[in-house]
Amino acid sequence: MVYDLDSIERIGVIGAGTMGSGIAQVAAMNGYDVVMRDIEDQYVQNGFDSIESSLDRFVAKDKLSETEKAETMERIEGTTALDDLADCQAVVEAALEDMDIKQDIFAELEGVVDDEAFIATNTSTLSITTIASAIDSEERVVGLHFMNPVPVMKGVEIVYGEKTSDEALELAHDLAEAMGKETWESDDKPGFVANRILMPWINEGIRAFDEGVATKEDIDTGMKLGTNVPMGPLQLADHIGLDICLHATETLHEELGDRYKPAYLLKRKVDAGDLGKKTGKGFYEYD
Ligand code: 3HC
Repeated sequence: MVYDLDSIERIGVIGAGTMGSGIAQVAAMNGYDVVMRDIEDQYVQNGFDSIESSLDRFVAKDKLSETEKAETMERIEGTTALDDLADCQAVVEAALEDMDIKQDIFAELEGVVDDEAFIATNTSTLSITTIASAIDSEERVVGLHFMNPVPVMKGVEIVYGEKTSDEALELAHDLAEAMGKETWESDDKPGFVANRILMPWINEGIRAFDEGVATKEDIDTGMKLGTNVPMGPLQLADHIGLDICLHATETLHEELGDRYKPAYLLKRKVDAGDLGKKTGKGFYEYD
């Protein structure tokens, strides 16, 4: 049993880094009281600094007033004590991408929050099921995977683990939407939808640069102009953080092995004559 959306007023965010502070910001911008926790005061302060500079960008673009900025900042409380999340009806964990660290946090958190509190993880590639196995009430754990920069990106990936209840899954969608986002859903498979597809793209961009296919500028420009994405693979890798890209790619490699052979489904579709728009049917159907 988890709370429903109407009972959520206070949201705990664990981790005040790029993702944690972004999640705290969008929660507060959408009217929630937020407790943002990190392990050191300096990290909490860095989180507040990045929230303030992001809010300043919205103010500069007339998307937010100075009063709304001040109200948003006031809704966020910083702490280094996990116990301060005791009154939160929902918690989003956005700590380091390390299974042991996440499981330790979850185990401790279960003793802090109410039995009905909703618990989510912002993990980008680790298994929701494995993280949730650190606690007894695994059914209330959902992946709530925000995209970077959180205040700007419209989408949140909702990931269900082996034990996730339908109620918790529905609440995950509702909560993300209440935080101004649109959602899509993924099973708990390595990299989910976003990183499973994005990381090989970035990795191939890096390889193309390393193998002298083109300059880094031409690789990024080529993909931007050629496929209408806002950033090329090398720019996007820098934006996400190369450590995060490496960790995600290593996880995918470990779990999925060699992904570069043409997908079996691609060959089967071609054999079936389903070639895409030009035949009226590919993965989608066209009139
Ligand atoms: N806070 C507030 N506003 C911000 C902001 C922030 N942190 N970052 C950018 N903005 C605003 C700017 O003020 C600007 O506003 P405007 O449209 O009103 O002028 C707008 O966003 C665009 O920003 P810029 O003009 O500075 O620069 P760009 O046009 O290059 O946009 C970008 C920057 C939004 C980052 C864009 O390049 C982009 O969408 N890049 C792709 C990002 C992406 O793919 N993210 C997902 C990565 S995968 C992931 O996160 C998963 C994880 O698990 C790895």
